[in-house]
Amino acid sequence: MNKPYTFDLIKPDFIPSRYDNHIIRRLSSMKGQYLDQQAYQKMLSHTDRVLYEVYELKRPEIVGELLHGISIVHPGKVGQEFFMTKGHFHTLLETAEVYNCLKGQGVMVMETPEGDWAVEELYPSRVLYVPPCWAHRSVNTSRTDDLVTFFVYPGNSGHDYGTIEQQGFRKLVIEESGQPVVIDNPRWQPTGGR
Ligand SMILES: [Fe+2]
Repeated sequence: MNKPYTFDLIKPDFIPSRYDNHIIRRLSSMKGQYLDQQAYQKMLSHTDRVLYEVYELKRPEIVGELLHGISIVHPGKVGQEFFMTKGHFHTLLETAEVYNCLKGQGVMVMETPEGDWAVEELYPSRVLYVPPCWAHRSVNTSRTDDLVTFFVYPGNSGHDYGTIEQQGFRKLVIEESGQPVVIDNPRWQPTGGR
């Protein structure tokens, strides 16, 4: 399929009017990622909640293509830590990504292999440019609303989830006195993989 195409992102849910893949990530796929492991196990023993969903338009994963779709992070917390995506580097590290927030409120937590980090706010109309080499994770800091973002990244980027699964992000976003707060991740450890 190599003809121009269109689709619509319709309020209030912004689910694309056409898509090829619908990925559902549940609590059970985030083993070891949340700081409060006790709260994680307790929540998981109760029910395997859906934390986030991705709707993808399928394109060839090659240079020149742009992969795009919608990410929806649901509201909630594990202990004091907000629901979030797994987060990843791109396998081809030197590839960027653009996010446009359509709904909700949250942050993008980012870091580089060299130790730089950044946390940028996301809210409707906000556009975020994630430069090459920055790992990225969406965090929903709303108590009630989904965090919905539209994303675009190069077709040949690939996803490296393993590095983050092993070492975590340097920074975490938790709720303190009703406010989102960025803290150091006490469990962060370099694997030497990157
Ligand atoms: Fe990405």
